[in-house]
Amino acid sequence: MTMKGQDVGTQRVQIEDPADWAGAGPRPDDGPAPTRSGTLEFVPGPGCERALRDALGRFATGVTVITAPGASGPVGITANSFTSLSLDPALVLWAPARASRRFDVFAAARHFAIHVLGAEQAALGRHFSRDGLDFDLPGVQQNAEGVPILPGCLAHFECRQEALHAGGDHAIVVGRVLRASLREGAPLVFSGGRYGGFSPDEAGV
Ligand SMILES: Cc1cc2nc3c(=O)[nH]c(=O)nc-3n(C[C@H](O)[C@H](O)[C@H](O)COP(=O)(O)O)c2cc1C
Repeated sequence: MTMKGQDVGTQRVQIEDPADWAGAGPRPDDGPAPTRSGTLEFVPGPGCERALRDALGRFATGVTVITAPGASGPVGITANSFTSLSLDPALVLWAPARASRRFDVFAAARHFAIHVLGAEQAALGRHFSRDGLDFDLPGVQQNAEGVPILPGCLAHFECRQEALHAGGDHAIVVGRVLRASLREGAPLVFSGGRYGGFSPDEAGV
């Protein structure tokens, strides 16, 4: 167990109720323990894998499904690593895991599409986190580059791969947005390993 609160790189995690740790997933016995104030401090490394995952999971994200054509048919994957990168030029990025069976297809894909899921599309997120090859879904169409486009999403971005960067056990795929769409609606949110919703703060930003 490592507890070095002063070290550079240490992360602090605020837990509302230390007794409620199970809400963030199982904590291995040999992992770091929260202090009485409810903060968990640790240095990423052996024994702290779960804590690191849980700390990262505190960052709520939207949910996307990314699709690409492959040599043996289309491939999809649920991903929350999607980020907007640049407005001019229009660039976005996401990070496929090198350990994924789908990695080679996405790393090699010259074109791909990113679909931002709406609040009512959790089933689609579950579908493509389990199975990347099943496109037996209503309304799927192909764009000019042969990329599957899923209907009814909150937004979608049709991309050409601009760059592929190293990123530890993931890669960073940068895409130039060729075409995009959006509709009104609430987003699907992912936080602490669970899907949920978003309630706007009426006070604004
Ligand atoms: C909400 C959510 C977000 C995810 N984000 C990513 C991601 O950004 N990159 C990634 O490679 N896998 C991500 N995954 C995991 C994949 O969706 C999928 O479960 C995994 O690739 C399955 O392993 P396989 O590709 O070897 O079948 C995410 C899963 C979920 C449920």
